Amino acid sequence: MASTIRDFSGQQTVSIADLYTQVRARTMEIVAPLEIEDYVIQTAEFMSPPRWHIGHTSWFFETVLQAHKPGYHVYSEDFLFYFNSYYEGFGQRIERPKRGTKSRPTVKETIAYRNHIDEQILALLESLDSLPNSETVLSLLRLGLEHEMQHQELLVYDIKHLLCDQFNAPMKPLPEPPMKVEGMAEIEGGLFWLGYGADQSGGKPPHSQEALRSTGSKFGEFAFDNEKPAHQVFLQDFAIDKAPVSNEQFLEFIRDGGYKNFRWWFSEGWEAVNREHWRAPLYWEQQHDGEWMIRDFSGLHSVASRKDEPVSHVSYFEASAFAKWSGKRLPTEAEWEKASCYDARRKIRNAFPWGDGGPTSSNANLFENSFWSVSPIGAFPQGASAYGCQQMIGDVWEWTTSDYVPYPGFKSEFDEYNDKWFVNQKVLRGGSFATPQLHIRTTYRNFFHAHERWMISGFRCARDM
Ligand SMILES: [Fe+2]
Repeated sequence: MASTIRDFSGQQTVSIADLYTQVRARTMEIVAPLEIEDYVIQTAEFMSPPRWHIGHTSWFFETVLQAHKPGYHVYSEDFLFYFNSYYEGFGQRIERPKRGTKSRPTVKETIAYRNHIDEQILALLESLDSLPNSETVLSLLRLGLEHEMQHQELLVYDIKHLLCDQFNAPMKPLPEPPMKVEGMAEIEGGLFWLGYGADQSGGKPPHSQEALRSTGSKFGEFAFDNEKPAHQVFLQDFAIDKAPVSNEQFLEFIRDGGYKNFRWWFSEGWEAVNREHWRAPLYWEQQHDGEWMIRDFSGLHSVASRKDEPVSHVSYFEASAFAKWSGKRLPTEAEWEKASCYDARRKIRNAFPWGDGGPTSSNANLFENSFWSVSPIGAFPQGASAYGCQQMIGDVWEWTTSDYVPYPGFKSEFDEYNDKWFVNQKVLRGGSFATPQLHIRTTYRNFFHAHERWMISGFRCARDM
């Protein structure tokens, strides 16, 4: 049985119990600078109070205990109601926009609940070999840890919305970019294996999961059901930006009246511009003298001082409008994936843009870099793909034109986790500065609605050739 696993840094193999402890501890490290009052406030319908995240991630593990720990008694029916997110199969729940309308359970009670669940899960892991369905339990616990890492990232978005520069984030200084990144990579079309499990040599049928595991491949250890199965798609020749679109480039669009001209926008996007009074990305503020500023965890900065950073907090509508204005388009997810991991010269597919080794602080800006910010374009030359595309992993999730739909042959591995969201959402790729290193893969499919922009979302453009 696979009872060991890559650790949080991705560099060594640890027991699942150790990984569980590491992941759970990180959630509490993220919220540590909060004051007690901060934990219960909901500043918008789309965000959740931090107290809810720390309880909900424990609730997820409690569903495993209920199903698989002999004699387990539910901690509190009230907690099941408050901390369930959207799972119809797990009973009634508080409506999402009302999570901030309750002061109970208190933060102290939520942490006591969390500690109780930890004790129970670690005890379950000790007796794992005696359980008849230990493989199932193990895969559910791994899913629970991936779920927790998703919520760690959501916590960063929500704390930003709640407090932004009032939050005392443990920030490290941003790196200086050693190079400029310009232009587009030209990529040949043809058949491409899309998705998790595609053979690393690129042109052959996918391995089984077991075979991948035995190769020791780092990306062979976990993937969500929505990344599978790998399958062939046909791509036309295309070109894709070597870098994400920068704040400076996006400011040009604003200055050219981009938000005032319907011709760049989808009809629904134009409605959103007018309904929400969008004039710039979220967290941009205009001074009296007309200068645009960006507020982030470190304060209020002129766009000029952040001109070389990837634009973030844009919706799919804004990304698409910019692309049309610039005479380009957004890439499909298959184009994005090929640009990120295929090496045409060697005819192999890498697990990551830079090769098969996992992310480190030198090849991508992910949560472990502790920048709490996007980093300047060109700051991670070591993370370039074989086609010369940079910062595809980390910094900003990148919008694609692809609808979030199941891949051909999709089989749900957990009801209501991914499968019930396969409508009306767009795929984003690559992770952000708030994504844990262990959590990201080139095949990872994130998804949001076209109007959403509180997450760390940016984009790069593509064009036909
Ligand atoms: Fe969740």
